[in-house]
Amino acid sequence: MIIAASRVLEDDAYRVPSGPSGSSGLAWLRHHVPRFTDGPDQVRLRGRVEAVLAELAEAPFDTDPTTTLLRALGLPAGLRADVAAAAGAYQPHLQQSAEADAAADRLVEACGGRTEDAAARVCVLVQAHAGVAALTAATDGPPIPYTRRIGPAGEVAVDLADAPFGAGPHRCPGEDLGRRLAAEAVR
Ligand code: HEM
Repeated sequence: MIIAASRVLEDDAYRVPSGPSGSSGLAWLRHHVPRFTDGPDQVRLRGRVEAVLAELAEAPFDTDPTTTLLRALGLPAGLRADVAAAAGAYQPHLQQSAEADAAADRLVEACGGRTEDAAARVCVLVQAHAGVAALTAATDGPPIPYTRRIGPAGEVAVDLADAPFGAGPHRCPGEDLGRRLAAEAVR
């Protein structure tokens, strides 16, 4: 795949790949979170994610980062495996499965059903799970080396070496919380 520089993250001609839409599973989730939408939908959905993040800023650390967030959101810690399963297939280019879709559906249900607010909560759980794991595992270089965009000439891998938390409208809103959870997890 062609590698593009991080400045494309601020270029409207490059859109996030969102995969097919659907009425359930990860297909439904992706089309209701800012990470995989663009334009006015992304702005509105990002606002919902930021409201969830504000609720979590002071969340007391539990056994691990994902359990911390589940408990702070008033959800059962037993959903941790579903967060991991959904995170493993969150990006549309990763291997999809019926199990990951079922996990995403259980998370949405636990968060109150198919609304944008439920999607925002699941988005935070799944993004934090993957982001904090990457940050904890990273030795040198960006924790997440590449993201993807669809540009005028097709899909490209965007180099995050000089933008480890992204840039432009999709820049990570969870950096502060993610750094805190990663620091507490390694302690
Ligand atoms: C509490 C932890 C975290 C949460 C809740 C979180 C949440 C999010 C969300 C919702 C987005 C999409 C924003 C949008 O599209 O408007 C995002 C983007 C991003 N996050 Fe995080 N994140 C967390 C931790 C991390 C960590 C630890 C990293 C590691 C470097 C990271 C790297 C990124 C990157 C690179 C993007 C941009 C992706 C793109 O533009 O394609 N995040 N994050």
